[in-house]
Amino acid sequence: MTADIIDGKAFAATVRAKVAEHVARLKAEHGITPGLAVILVGEDPASEVYVRNKGKQTVECGMNSYEHKLDPDTSEADLLALIDQLNNDPAVHGILCQLPLPKHLNEDLVINSIAPAKDVDGFHISNVGLLATGQKSMVPCTPLGCLMMLRDKHGSLSGMNAVVVGRSNIVGKPMAQLLLQDSCTVTIAHSRTKDIEALCRQADILVAAVGRPEMITGEWVKPGATIIDVGINRIPAPEKGEGKMKLVGDVDFDSAAAIAGAITPVPGGVGPMTIACLLANTVTACCRAASLPEPEGLTA
Ligand code: GUN
Repeated sequence: MTADIIDGKAFAATVRAKVAEHVARLKAEHGITPGLAVILVGEDPASEVYVRNKGKQTVECGMNSYEHKLDPDTSEADLLALIDQLNNDPAVHGILCQLPLPKHLNEDLVINSIAPAKDVDGFHISNVGLLATGQKSMVPCTPLGCLMMLRDKHGSLSGMNAVVVGRSNIVGKPMAQLLLQDSCTVTIAHSRTKDIEALCRQADILVAAVGRPEMITGEWVKPGATIIDVGINRIPAPEKGEGKMKLVGDVDFDSAAAIAGAITPVPGGVGPMTIACLLANTVTACCRAASLPEPEGLTA
């Protein structure tokens, strides 16, 4: 068997097109332009690239982008004051504070100071609790993107065995909540899980989010399973020349694709969906703030 490749790049383009369409309607019919504020503290090169891409795609969808670049030694009080100002700014519908933050800043405190209705990352404890109890919330972008791709592939996920490898607050835990919400039987596996291979072989849906390059191989995969690879790992690629690097997922693509029914590649799978879902969450937040109907197909 050779797996179908789930094209996250193309899927993300359709999500962005839906976002742009909804933004155009909000402008034309209600005179509202959704706005996303992104805060970057410090000069982490990878974070700078993410933030630049977020800003660019926000504008391409017709929304306003507000970028706040702060010095690496910004005090917690100054960062909280900026968040308070954005919380109270009616032109800002979504606020994202790029993680990781410099060590001297308390990440939990900062995240929980963002107004839950503007928390387009879905990391605020209120949104975590709302998601866990099946109430309307802001849903973390990467798991939301994974869910959209799974629903597109399978229609209903009801009754499927799902194994999520990884228990982070950003991906593993919210992913498990979303799959449970869609009536999957869900197991979260992690570094202490016994016989993780055998467990993964039970999975109709296998989500890999551990940050360990090519850890999951074809022997871990149930024939015909759908694999969602959230990992983005940069590793040496001597075959491309001395000092060259390449991106790989948490799944060993070739061996897994020989067994699976469908699989997301790295790059070009989950990655592009994350920013697309951030834009979707910003439109959703804007509609909720204005008590207007939410865009269809862009929420959990
Ligand atoms: N850093 C890496 N991924 C993310 C994300 O999804 N949101 C934020 N705020 N920071 C990140």
